[in-house]
Amino acid sequence: MSRFERKWDHIRFALENRQNRSTVFDDVKFLHQSLPNISVFDVRLDHSIGGLSLSSPIFINAMTGGGGERTFQINKELAIVAKRTGLAMAVGSQMSALKDKGERYTYEVVRKENPDGVIIANLGSEATSENAKAAIDMIEANALQIHLNVIQELTMPEGDRDFTGVLKRIESIVKVVDIPVIVKEVGFGMTRETVDSLATAGVTAIDIGGSGGTNFAEIENKRREKIFTFFNQWGIPTPISIIEAASNSNNITIIGSGGFLTGSDIAKGLALGANAIGMAGYFLRILMEKGSDALQEEIENLHKELTMIMTALGARTLADLQNVPLIISGETYHWLHQRGID
Ligand code: FNR
Repeated sequence: MSRFERKWDHIRFALENRQNRSTVFDDVKFLHQSLPNISVFDVRLDHSIGGLSLSSPIFINAMTGGGGERTFQINKELAIVAKRTGLAMAVGSQMSALKDKGERYTYEVVRKENPDGVIIANLGSEATSENAKAAIDMIEANALQIHLNVIQELTMPEGDRDFTGVLKRIESIVKVVDIPVIVKEVGFGMTRETVDSLATAGVTAIDIGGSGGTNFAEIENKRREKIFTFFNQWGIPTPISIIEAASNSNNITIIGSGGFLTGSDIAKGLALGANAIGMAGYFLRILMEKGSDALQEEIENLHKELTMIMTALGARTLADLQNVPLIISGETYHWLHQRGID
């Protein structure tokens, strides 16, 4: 199977991998405020994270690594939507374009369509510091994501089996790159201890990429005879992983992603301690099934929902939202209790 076919499989099965809303978000409840003392027009969604000025806490997370004409088309349309809505956008893994210069155009289109936007480069943890610099230059990136995908690799017969030296490589990349480096999971979450290790290696931003959304174990298991199906249920649910990360003992920027579908999920992710929320599968599905105008409309709708929730809570800014009281119940409560996090 060619690289393009494998990547197209990922997109096809990600679209089939219909996201039911993760019930773990229901464990988190806001406290109603009868006297919020605020107008809808007071609410501001702009903020800055890790030195990047963003007009929205929502961003388009990495998708469509692998190159080819379909990657070009999807990246182009996502870049146009990102420009129209003011969202930051991460591209999918650029390794294929580092190996084959003929593939560069499929990523370069993102900067071409959105010359002034915040664009995030993406590579896997096998990347060297030379790879990192080349990926950043390719799209004049404002930040770089390094993704960790142990479970996806283990679920693929042709996937990596050796995960040694990852932290050392990340440390060497952080040392030579002069833009923020975001280390991200791809749907299995991170613990507080992982976040602390990354912070010690010099990483200043992480995307916890929790479970509950696009599930790469399930996707890989759909592509062939099922082998490691126990990984389908693996991972740390997104809201729990955000709380884990927020309890780390370092001053690190936390990004939440994995299964976000509604304005309420986004508000909860931010209130639990995330500084931004990445969305991938849900946006891809809207783009592929209904087109770029529908995706733009949905992003505008999410901004509206978030503004209404912030008004109801009396939160003028995202910093205010991060300080509203929350009630935590169910699996999340028990998890935090056992982990000694409160
Ligand atoms: C991804 N994701 C991803 N992540 C990454 O760091 N590099 C990549 O190349 C890709 N490729 C990719 C392709 C497709 C088709 C999808 C749907 C996703 C993972 C993505 O950024 C995100 O971490 C997960 O999809 C979980 O978020 P959602 O989809 O639940 O919002």
